[in-house]
Amino acid sequence: MENLQEKILQADSLEALEKVRVELFGKKGLLAVEFAKLKDVPGPEKKAFAEGLNETKAKLQAAFDERYEALKANEIESMLKSEAIDVSLYSTLAAKGALHPVMETMDKIIDYFVALNFAVESGPMVEDDFHNFEALNLPKSHPARDMQDTFYFNDGSLLRTHTSPVQIRTMMTTKPPIRMIAPGTVFRRDYDLTHTPMFHQVEGLVVEEKGKVSFANLKAILTDFLQYMFGNVDVRFRPSFFPFTEPSAEVDISCIFCAGNGCRVCSGTGWLEVLGCGIVDPNVFKAVGYEEVSGYAFGLGVERFAMLMHKIPDLRSLFEGDIRLLEQFR
Ligand code: PHE
Repeated sequence: MENLQEKILQADSLEALEKVRVELFGKKGLLAVEFAKLKDVPGPEKKAFAEGLNETKAKLQAAFDERYEALKANEIESMLKSEAIDVSLYSTLAAKGALHPVMETMDKIIDYFVALNFAVESGPMVEDDFHNFEALNLPKSHPARDMQDTFYFNDGSLLRTHTSPVQIRTMMTTKPPIRMIAPGTVFRRDYDLTHTPMFHQVEGLVVEEKGKVSFANLKAILTDFLQYMFGNVDVRFRPSFFPFTEPSAEVDISCIFCAGNGCRVCSGTGWLEVLGCGIVDPNVFKAVGYEEVSGYAFGLGVERFAMLMHKIPDLRSLFEGDIRLLEQFR
């Protein structure tokens, strides 16, 4: 009895314990053998023998159950240990994408004007002469066409050189008043530090009943917009020329690299040119059949904004697809 109990205690795994179980409690096990002896025990001793045997069996069963629980608990414990996941361990981080700085800048620009209730319009990248030039007061042979080096197709269609044709398309399909921006891709035959043949512009156009908008409105909204984009900069309007606006202006901000003191980026002037704008030329309204209206328009290059905001020295690096550049904007 003692050493049977010992046997149970010494089983060091569930498998070993199972062997012991068969050996003791099995059909041909030790207990079965003992119980078989009962029939040979003389009558008067039968009761005591049977009671003794049952007691032994109960003790062994209790010892077995206890050992079984202990081994089972051990097994669960070691399973939990070996299968545990250490959530505090570092692992390789999944690569996370980000917006291209040009798109991020575009979104920021769009956000500003959408908040002021401007509609977001779009038009085709392959344009015709009428929408890209003619209706914008740039008749054929007009010298100002040389300002924009155009990609032409054989059939005379072209890649739009600016987003201004979207002004025309919107006015020809919508009645005034108009309050719109047109973000989009444009194309010019140009390639150097600050020009790529494909780039992005955001156009703006506001048209109201005659006399309801003035250059003062244009100046106010663009000043606020540029300070939203670039922070606390000075803004100045310089007389300029665009065929589709009269008067026209180019807009400068005080140089964000030298705070207006003059440096290499601003060529020592203290100013950076960022926008073209003006009061819509009457000839443009004539081309789209608008009467008794006045309006203002502006256009800007998104890449130029992105370069200035992120201090990117070479515009071309934005389009080389080098992941190391993009990773800096994650
Ligand atoms: N379309 C002009 C350009 O590409 C920008 C501009 C738009 C200027 C609207 C005035 C008004 O340079």
